[in-house]
Amino acid sequence: MATITHPLEPLAAAEVQLTVSLLKAAGKVTPTTRFISISLKEPAKAIVHAFTGAEPIRREAFAVLFDNATNSCYETTVSLTDRTVLTWQHVPGVQPTMSVDEQIECEQAVLASPEFKAALKRQYGIEDTKLVMVDIWSAGNYGSEEDRTRRLARPLCFLRTDPTDNGYAKPIEGLRPVVDLNAMQVLRVEEYGHWPLPPQQANYAADRITNFRAAAKPLEIIQPEGPSFTVEGYRVRWQKWDFVIGFNAREGLTLNALAYADSGRMRSVLYRGSLSEMVVPYGDPAPQQARKNAFDAGEYGLGYCANSLELGCDCLGYIKYFDGHLCTSRGDPLTIKNAVCMHEEDYGILWKHTDRRLNAPEVRRSRRLVISSIATVENYEYGFFWYLYQDGNIQFEIKLTGILSLGALPPGVKSPYGTVIAPQLYAPNHQHFFNMRLDLDIDGTANSVQQIDVVPDELGPLNPFENAFSARACVVATEQEAKARLNIETARTWKIINPGVLNAMGDPVGYKFFPGDNCCPFASKNAWWRKRAGFVENHVWVTPCRDEERHAAGNYPNQSGGGDGLPLWTAANRSITDTDVVLWYTFGHTHIARPEDYPVMPAAYIGFMLKPNGFFSENPGNDIPPGMSHASHCG
Ligand code: CO
Repeated sequence: MATITHPLEPLAAAEVQLTVSLLKAAGKVTPTTRFISISLKEPAKAIVHAFTGAEPIRREAFAVLFDNATNSCYETTVSLTDRTVLTWQHVPGVQPTMSVDEQIECEQAVLASPEFKAALKRQYGIEDTKLVMVDIWSAGNYGSEEDRTRRLARPLCFLRTDPTDNGYAKPIEGLRPVVDLNAMQVLRVEEYGHWPLPPQQANYAADRITNFRAAAKPLEIIQPEGPSFTVEGYRVRWQKWDFVIGFNAREGLTLNALAYADSGRMRSVLYRGSLSEMVVPYGDPAPQQARKNAFDAGEYGLGYCANSLELGCDCLGYIKYFDGHLCTSRGDPLTIKNAVCMHEEDYGILWKHTDRRLNAPEVRRSRRLVISSIATVENYEYGFFWYLYQDGNIQFEIKLTGILSLGALPPGVKSPYGTVIAPQLYAPNHQHFFNMRLDLDIDGTANSVQQIDVVPDELGPLNPFENAFSARACVVATEQEAKARLNIETARTWKIINPGVLNAMGDPVGYKFFPGDNCCPFASKNAWWRKRAGFVENHVWVTPCRDEERHAAGNYPNQSGGGDGLPLWTAANRSITDTDVVLWYTFGHTHIARPEDYPVMPAAYIGFMLKPNGFFSENPGNDIPPGMSHASHCG
C-alpha cells in the first residue's frame, strides 16, 4: 500500500484499485456497471485537527457507481484499512456525473448512427463523418418524461476542415442528436433548420501560425537553491503555511487543513476549500441553443477533465507536480499525471516605506505560492488557482480561457443574443457561475460570520462636516439571515470570526472575505437551469458544516429536477453562530463575447480574497528579511 502521511491525502492509485477489487469481490459490479467516481472518504474533522503524525491512519473510500442496465445509481463506502465494504445504498431517480468513457463512447455512437449520417448528408451533403467532432453536452431537464427516466446527452457537433484544424470554427448548427447513454445509442436527431457552415478556418496551434511577431527576449526564473517549500506526499509546508493538496474526480483540486504557524503555534484557517459547483447558462432563445447550460462539476467532473500538465503548463521556475489518481468507468487505473502544479512566484512589492529624513528605504518583495489545476471541458478551459501569500492572504482565482461555444448564422445576419466574431459565426451570450465552498476554521471550529456594511453617518450636530462613515458589523445568526447579495453601496464584506479567541486588541480573531467581480443571473427564476442551480440566488450563503453538504446544486445535478443543494438545506434555517460554519460564495462572469475572444480566448480572471483581519497582532510580513536578487541588474 502507498505511504500515506496525512489523513486528508487524496487516494493513491493503489487505494483506488483496492476499492475496485473490494467492490468486485463483494459482488457489487456487473458487466454494465460504471464507476463514476472513487474518492477519499474524509475522516471526521476532530481526528484531523488532533492529528500529530504519530497515530496510524485509517483509510476509507467513497464511490459512486451506476448500472446502465437498470439505470440505477449506487453510493458505497469501503474501508481500505479493514478491506471491507461498509455501506451500499441505491440512490433512486438520479443521474450521476457523465464519465470520460461515456464522452468518448457517445461521440462514437453519434458518428456510427445511420440517422445522424442521413441528416448530415441531407443538410450538408457530407457522407464521411471522420472530420465531425461530437461534444457530449449534458441534456439537462426540461420536465419531460424522457429527461426524468433516461440517461441522456444532447451533443453539439462541429466539422473540421482537415484532421488537425480548429473544428469549433464550423458548428453543424441545425442538428442535435439526442443520445441514450445507457443503451449508448442515438434516440433521434433533432433538426432545427439549415445553416450553411461558416466559411472561414480560424486556427491557433503553433504549426498553423505563419506570421508570428518577434519573440520577446528570454525571461528565466532561476531558483539556484531550489524552492522554499517542502513536500511530504500531498502535504506542503511553505513560509509558515501548512496544508494538504486534495484532488478528486468531481471537484478537481481542493485545499485542505490550511494552517499558519504563528510564533511556533499552528493556527487553523481554512479546513477545506473547494469549487462546489458551477453552471454556464446561455442566453439565446434559438431552439437549437436554448437548452445549453453546463454544470461542469456535477455533470462533467472537474477532476475528470483535468489536464495533465506534463506538457503545456508554462509555469516558470521550480515546479512541483502532483498526480491525480482516478479510475475509468470500468474500474481500470486512470492517473492524470501532473494534474496539480505548484510553484513560487515573485509578486512585486509586499510593503515599502522610505523614511524621508533618514533617506532609508525599507522594501520587501512579495513571494506567493501558486497551486493550480486546469480543466478542459470540451471547448472551454478553466484554470483554478490558489495563491498563498506571506502576509496571511489567501486568494482564489479562476482563469477562463479556451474556445467559445459557437453557433452558425446565415450570411449577413446578426443576432441580438450573441456576437458575430467571424463570417456566419457567432458566440451566444452566456454567464459562468461558480460556487465556492469555504469551510473556514478560524483558530478552531467555533466560528461566527459577520456581514459588514459601511454606511455614512446621519447628518446632524455630531457630523458637522458631513464626512463621517463607519463599518457596521452584524453577526448573522441563522441561514436565512446570512443569505445576501453583494452591495457596492455599502462596500459589503464578510468576516469569519472566532468569538472565543481574542486578539491583542480584545476583539475576536478573524479573516475577512473580499468578493471580486460578480453579477446576477439574467434568466428568469422559472428557467429550468435556474431551478437546478438555486445557488445563484445569493452571492453569499452560510451553513453549519455538514460533510454531506458538499455540492451547491446537490449531489446529482445532472438531469435533476431542481430544488436541491443550498436552497433546500438552508430552508431549515439552522443556527450558524459559534459553531462550525461554511461560507458559500457564488460568483458570476457575464460573457458578452468580442471578436478578440476568437479563435482562442485570452484568459479572463475572476475570484476572491481572504485576508487576515485581527487574526494577527501586526503585519505578519514584518519579519520577512530583505532580499536581493543577484541575477537582476540595471539596463
Ligand atoms: Co465564457
